[in-house]
Amino acid sequence: MSRTHTIEFKSAGLQVEVPTGLTLTEAANLAGVTINHPCGGQGRCGRCAVKILEGKFRRRSSLRLTSQDIEAGFTLACQSIIEGDMRVSVPPQEKVERRLVTDLTARKVKIPEGYDHQVDQTIKRVNLTIEPPTMEEQTDDWSRIKRALRKAANIEDPQISLPLLQQIGTILREGGWEVSAIVEIPPENSGEAPRLVALYPIHFPDDKPLWGCAIDIGTTTVSVWLTNLITGQVHAQVAEYNQQIQHGEDVISRIIYDSKDHNEGVLQGLVLKSINQLIDRACKRAKAKPDEIFKATVVGNTIMMHLLLNIPASSIRLSPFITTATHIPTLKASELNILIHPEASIQILPCIASYVGADITAGAFSSGIAETEKNTLFMDIGTNGEMVLGSKDWMVTCACSAGPAFEGAGVIDGMRATKGAIEEVWINTENFEPNIRVIGGGKPRGLCGSGLISLLAELFLAGIVDKSGNINTSLDTPRVRTGPHEGEYVVAFADESSHGKDIVITHVDIDNLLRAKAAIFAGYVVLAESVGVPLETVEQVLIGGSFGQYINVEKAIEIGLLPDMPWENFHFLGNTAVMGAYNALLSWKSSQKIDQIAKQMTYIELSADNTFYEAFMSALFLPHTDLSLFPRVAEMKAEK
Ligand code: FES
Repeated sequence: MSRTHTIEFKSAGLQVEVPTGLTLTEAANLAGVTINHPCGGQGRCGRCAVKILEGKFRRRSSLRLTSQDIEAGFTLACQSIIEGDMRVSVPPQEKVERRLVTDLTARKVKIPEGYDHQVDQTIKRVNLTIEPPTMEEQTDDWSRIKRALRKAANIEDPQISLPLLQQIGTILREGGWEVSAIVEIPPENSGEAPRLVALYPIHFPDDKPLWGCAIDIGTTTVSVWLTNLITGQVHAQVAEYNQQIQHGEDVISRIIYDSKDHNEGVLQGLVLKSINQLIDRACKRAKAKPDEIFKATVVGNTIMMHLLLNIPASSIRLSPFITTATHIPTLKASELNILIHPEASIQILPCIASYVGADITAGAFSSGIAETEKNTLFMDIGTNGEMVLGSKDWMVTCACSAGPAFEGAGVIDGMRATKGAIEEVWINTENFEPNIRVIGGGKPRGLCGSGLISLLAELFLAGIVDKSGNINTSLDTPRVRTGPHEGEYVVAFADESSHGKDIVITHVDIDNLLRAKAAIFAGYVVLAESVGVPLETVEQVLIGGSFGQYINVEKAIEIGLLPDMPWENFHFLGNTAVMGAYNALLSWKSSQKIDQIAKQMTYIELSADNTFYEAFMSALFLPHTDLSLFPRVAEMKAEK
């Protein structure tokens, strides 16, 4: 018979009664105590460690904890089964702080040539002066509105929803038959009818903005651009961490969390919370009201789209990796609980396959790869590495599960790119002492993705790490030593760090980074081989996503993450996904082009590809087994 136990979370001052057999993670959730679970509770990341002050429990696994941690009373919350009353202390959690440069002030965004939003816009506002009814002329209210729309704007036979139909009589009379109609007019070739979205008892001035928003749901960050649909001007660009992060940093962990009993809808709720808070923030900044936003376009990877719609994503994880849908019909905001005008349409841009999503179709549009004559590699490296090779005539795409190592997860002292993260490292080749740059200045707390790339390149060039990633522990420096996870290099000693603990990179961490970079490099190789285009003929590399904004190209080439080509061939484009969503928001022609891109791309499933495995194995070295692929790195190594 299951007994109940009292679990007290001392630091939070909260307690909860739970039955035997629950994990400490489940108890914390019930008590409302926040513990981050970057790996989704699989016992892989070690970030959910809590200290047991007293109580009876059973450990399922203690991977990632050292014997000293265990001796000091630490356990992984997700791996600890409650067997009696417990008192637990939860250490301060890594704060989901805003990235320093995610929120930008409104700026002018370039609309590609040939995509004229003044012409292609589907949302229109029309001021109507309607003939009031009389005893002699008894046409119904809705027919009067339709007649006025035809006369004023040539809009034929619009549709209306029941909730709006219930209100129009009152609005017409309140406005004294002078009203403003917001209408959605689909492109002629769509076969869809126009639709009355909203009606206001007033004539609005022409310069009053008509709002729309472009939303990008990244695995890590959600971005919203609030846009005036009339002028095309972006009035607010806001971004924040995706609140789903607490249940897993990578897409696989999220799928696992989502498919567990009792978790259904939790991740959908969290991402909606992120979106709605951002819309609210953007509106405050632009002095707009959320219910005056009449259209939204949404992009994100395929798993994010499934979770947003609360569609089970578990089939994506298992062979043969099938999605429920890659093309989602247009929805209304009220169906999805996005807090803008309830009748606003929500257009989710098309995905390609399980691991190549709408972020890539939108990115392929805004990066220009689909319009160029040049052989181009377009990549978006985030928690997942998605890439497209091609030009305006052909495109192949694939996704490699690089894992979240470049976002600081799965690495012992890894962290996100927030305050306190080491983002750049230089190592003195004589005495092996590091010189570091920390985000926000001050003492460091850990290493973020760009810091890890930089550190790995420096370790390699300084000869501390060999081409297989092994640390040379015989070097005469206290920075190199043998720790609980084999060889390690100390980037900051306890007295140099903000938390009073050493910050190290271990052999196991290096292994994780090598696997991540090898997966990405093997992705390029497979794409190139699939179409018989040698990688050397690639004329430009376009890098989208936040990752590209922070990495040092030189260092990324040195570790073999980016192909060795002149730096001027690399172009960092920022968030290409949200830019694509923005263009689709403003112009149906852009959105049709994105649909066409989705149809045009050939998807290559890497797990079914032998070339991928071979290319991956060859890329598991620094920078690669075949040094002729990295001539400049070979030169630098020879000079040292
Ligand atoms: S080890 Fe518990 S959440 Fe990752």
